[in-house]
Amino acid sequence: MSFGAGYTFLRSYLLRDLPEVSFPTKFGEAGWRVGSAIVNYDLTYYLSLIADLRLAGLFDALVAIAARRPAVVLEIGGGFGGLACLIRKLVPNSHYIVVDLPESLVFSVPYLGTLFPQDSLALVNGDGGAERPAVPDFTFVPNHRVDAVRGANLRVDLAVNTMSLDEMAPHQVEGYARLLSEVLADGAFFFEVNVDHVVPPLSRHLRQIAPPSPWARSERAVLWRDTKKIRYWQA
Ligand SMILES: C[S@@+](CC[C@H](N)C(=O)[O-])C[C@H]1O[C@@H](n2cnc3c(N)ncnc32)[C@H](O)[C@@H]1O
Repeated sequence: MSFGAGYTFLRSYLLRDLPEVSFPTKFGEAGWRVGSAIVNYDLTYYLSLIADLRLAGLFDALVAIAARRPAVVLEIGGGFGGLACLIRKLVPNSHYIVVDLPESLVFSVPYLGTLFPQDSLALVNGDGGAERPAVPDFTFVPNHRVDAVRGANLRVDLAVNTMSLDEMAPHQVEGYARLLSEVLADGAFFFEVNVDHVVPPLSRHLRQIAPPSPWARSERAVLWRDTKKIRYWQA
């Protein structure tokens, strides 16, 4: 399916009852105008992730949490910030934490800071920046400071990783799986889309749940939960 057709399908079917969101005409965004959106591969790709989250019931669960208190989203390896941008637009009452390599944060911090000028942005670093994620709306955490997430006593309502754990060594994947088992809230999920070699290191700390939408995407998309918290949640 071309991304133009994919966009139309997503908008008119899977996402039809959500507000229309897209990337603004900043940072050289290019594509085809469809209504008020600039449609390109990136927009269709990130909207398809949101469609997957919806099909799994996770997106609507996040919206329900955000109606009561700021929902906490943790994204590992957020790239330029595309998914963060769309989720923050759709769920404004949220604290979005991005853990990434410093060389990627160099792109996502100015991107999201420019698109959300009203938002507070905290950068965890060793040089006078925030020491741990505390204040919404965005917190950026360099991967070498990831313990700051653990130290913040945060309960993460949704964790996401797409096309990124598969760039990492097994011990790094396992490190993130351990972190997630500690910080995911009771009943919360980790949604990831990666190649299969990430499964063994993740399985040591998390339990794989059925794919969110076997028919919506051609790539592997998997939900994980912390084993202890599954029992708690089911009790
Ligand atoms: C291919 S990009 C994917 C970006 C985005 N998630 C997407 O689906 O388009 C891979 C991302 O993983 C990040 N990454 C690689 N190694 C990482 C690590 N050890 N810790 C955190 N992020 C990492 C990269 O910096 C980059 O942001």
